[in-house]
Amino acid sequence: MNSAASEIPVLAVDGPGGAGKGTVCREVAASMGWHLLDSGALYRAVAVFAGIRGVPLDDHPGLADLAAGLPVDFVPASDDTRVLLSGTDVTRELRTETTGDLASRVAAIPEVRDALSQRQRDFRQLPGLVADGRDMGTVIFPDARAKVFLTASARERARRRHKQLLDKGIDANIDRLYGEIVERDRRDEERAVAPLKPAPDACVIDTTSMSIPEVVDAVLSHLRSRLSD
Ligand code: C5P
Repeated sequence: MNSAASEIPVLAVDGPGGAGKGTVCREVAASMGWHLLDSGALYRAVAVFAGIRGVPLDDHPGLADLAAGLPVDFVPASDDTRVLLSGTDVTRELRTETTGDLASRVAAIPEVRDALSQRQRDFRQLPGLVADGRDMGTVIFPDARAKVFLTASARERARRRHKQLLDKGIDANIDRLYGEIVERDRRDEERAVAPLKPAPDACVIDTTSMSIPEVVDAVLSHLRSRLSD
């Protein structure tokens, strides 16, 4: 990173899946007029691309090659960002539980993380960046101006996910979702490289009994206080 890039402010938002990071980051980025990095979408895209290319999950060099040349594009849309892989819209496939599970396996491979690190840093552009992930404040942007760690109990995250799926007309079993969340947390927290954990200088916000607007307000006020330091 050159010195000019290091002056561009970053808000790093880390935490487990289902803590509300995606929605909160989108709203905070819109309110600040900043760019948004959904780093989970990159790991998800590698998992989908591996399926298309027939690269097995134990072929680490093969997966790292795919990650290094990942033909992914993020296209802003009115409802959500569309994700294109080699020009094909894979947004829906990217969001499934199966892809999330595969992504967390792919994300535990150090060579894949290395291959994606510069691509993530390239999102750091003026006037600023909101970076959503697991290791934004610890590994990718350790010099971020502000760092937030959003969390919520696994039960509450399963309840939110369940409601989200029902709202989309997708049938789901809450106990199974809970089991999957606990298993994904374990994999993210126990992996040897870039494990999920709050940066020492992160502001930890437990969103279990907070509404989305309350969390957005809390994150914005933390960011503004760091920007005026
Ligand atoms: O955030 P999302 O659920 O889209 O991420 C999918 C998976 O990608 C996570 O379970 C995690 O294993 C991995 N991931 C990661 N580092 C990031 C973002 C996501 O390891 N910065």
